[in-house]
Amino acid sequence: MAAKCQIPIRRVGSYGYAFADPLVEVKTAGAPTILYGLVDEEAAAAIVYQHVGQGKLLDGHIIGSRQRGKTIDGPVTAILVRDSSRDEGDKTEFFKESIHAELTEHGLADTVQVVSALDLGIYDEGLTVQLLPSGVTYTNVLSRDITRLVTESVQKQEVLDHLLYSSPDLQERIVLRNCGIIDPESLDDALRHDSYKGFVRALTEQSPEQVIDTVKTSGLRGRGGAGFPTGVKWELTRKPEADRKFVICNADEGDPGAFMDRSVLEGDPHAVLEGLMLAAFAIGACKGYFYIRAEYPLAVKRIQKAIDQTRERGLLGENILGSGWSFDAAIRLGAGAFVCGEETALIASIEGRRGSPEPRPPYPSVQGLWGKPTSINNVETLAAVPWIVAKGGEAYARFGTEKSKGTKVFAVTGKVLNAQLVEVPMGTSVRDIIFGICGGAQDAVPIKGVQTGGPSGGIIPEPYLDTPITYENLSELGSIMGSGGMLVMNENDCMVDVAAFYLKFCVDESCGKCAPCRAGGYQMLQLLQKIAKGRGEPGDLDLIRRICKAMQCASLCGLGQTAPNPVLSSLRFFEDEFLAYIEGGTSYARKLKKARAEGRNLKDVV
Ligand SMILES: Cc1cc2nc3c(=O)[nH]c(=O)nc-3n(C[C@H](O)[C@H](O)[C@H](O)COP(=O)(O)O)c2cc1C
Repeated sequence: MAAKCQIPIRRVGSYGYAFADPLVEVKTAGAPTILYGLVDEEAAAAIVYQHVGQGKLLDGHIIGSRQRGKTIDGPVTAILVRDSSRDEGDKTEFFKESIHAELTEHGLADTVQVVSALDLGIYDEGLTVQLLPSGVTYTNVLSRDITRLVTESVQKQEVLDHLLYSSPDLQERIVLRNCGIIDPESLDDALRHDSYKGFVRALTEQSPEQVIDTVKTSGLRGRGGAGFPTGVKWELTRKPEADRKFVICNADEGDPGAFMDRSVLEGDPHAVLEGLMLAAFAIGACKGYFYIRAEYPLAVKRIQKAIDQTRERGLLGENILGSGWSFDAAIRLGAGAFVCGEETALIASIEGRRGSPEPRPPYPSVQGLWGKPTSINNVETLAAVPWIVAKGGEAYARFGTEKSKGTKVFAVTGKVLNAQLVEVPMGTSVRDIIFGICGGAQDAVPIKGVQTGGPSGGIIPEPYLDTPITYENLSELGSIMGSGGMLVMNENDCMVDVAAFYLKFCVDESCGKCAPCRAGGYQMLQLLQKIAKGRGEPGDLDLIRRICKAMQCASLCGLGQTAPNPVLSSLRFFEDEFLAYIEGGTSYARKLKKARAEGRNLKDVV
């Protein structure tokens, strides 16, 4: 009887390749790791029978390696093929067959498999092939290159320099370092991937002040939107004398289109917990809370599991690892109010009060949860901290620009080819993210602009896409980094509707406590909706600008202060569209609405 072979199946968190979910990775000793995307039941069965059982790759589902090899050190076992050109027919099948025919001619068809790839992470470089296991990647391959590809690269294991693609990966995964790699429900697996190393080192070898200094050196700024320097926030919370102090992880992610925090909580909960523990150690907190929106049940489950597992091992609770320091963590659920992501509203919500904001100062670092000094940090901010403590502040500060250091995770969605999470060094251009990493426009309709920062942000129009992303550059353009949502819009998106959409979100989510936000937002929405119906009047745009100013100056919290941003940004770059609606009247508005409903190109209608 044949011996049963043991093949472990591990669940991991999200890789962030939203365009190809769900994903399966097959790791075989001595062979390249293969990542499959768009895996339905049928594909999963085929992966088991075909790949695991017979060692054959599955056609059309493979996401090629992002690690590009430079040399071929052993036999080529597979060739992945993908046409990466835009606006042209798919040449993948033709090339696949041509390569196969050439391999057959040289007696290699049985040893080298040729399969089409779902995505190789390369765009606009013509026909692209990747040789496995080396990862050597060729771009702009022509029919005439195929013979040399087979005779030189496959037979002689020589690299064809003129075709070699050697551009570096634009991404740098620090926050996402373990996402898609570890089993998020296994502490042992997290420990194997260096989780809690930084925390144990800090606890046993460093003082809280040293941890704060490391984070200050790193230049890390809050990733929840406001961009406040994290080390400074911790220092401010450490200073005041108090019998109790608290740390809170803000996991109330509510921006439309944002899924960064969710992916990190689900994919690497131990990174966030370790970050919270380091924050607690640095400021001297006795208790920490994860404030997680209730719509994220998997994130809640995995964080709870991480808390339970670390408590069992003595990493959390009384007298941690015999150090004399005690700290514990718990989860509080947010009930779905966007404003509860604002610090003072969040604190009120945890205390069991109505989640509406309070005027600041006093800031939570002085008077926060139950009147005690409290540090509130975003999920992504906390997830970066263990890496920083383990590798040093300077290592993190080497990424990014002078004033915006490190990396930032963005959730790229909308009219983009490959919607996904990306993590890039600060200073990477919007164009590189949209075109270089995510493959550019969907359906070849030209991109009109990219909304960053959600309802508190603004639009970066196409001519400004080369802007390097930094806190300063984005604010100069009237937008913000925000928490990292990036919504790509194309020429068929109407900016009047986009402005109204974001404003409506803020109007719906306003807590109603202060009049500028409650009344101003509502009045402005009425005006925008009136314009969208072609009933706008010439003075409306001035009135909108005046309301925006009043809201920015007089609103109690960030929700009302920033709600005008998408409106002002749309007016700044696309005022013509608003004027066209006002001047064109109802028939113009009806014409556009009809064209949009029929899926026609707006350019052909206007
Ligand atoms: C209306 C509103 C909603 C917010 N929502 C969130 C949120 O969901 N997550 C978050 O981390 N920060 C959110 N913030 C920002 C937080 O108030 C705060 O700045 C952040 O949690 C601080 O952490 P950081 O310094 O690590 O960014 C929101 C702010 C406002 C005004």
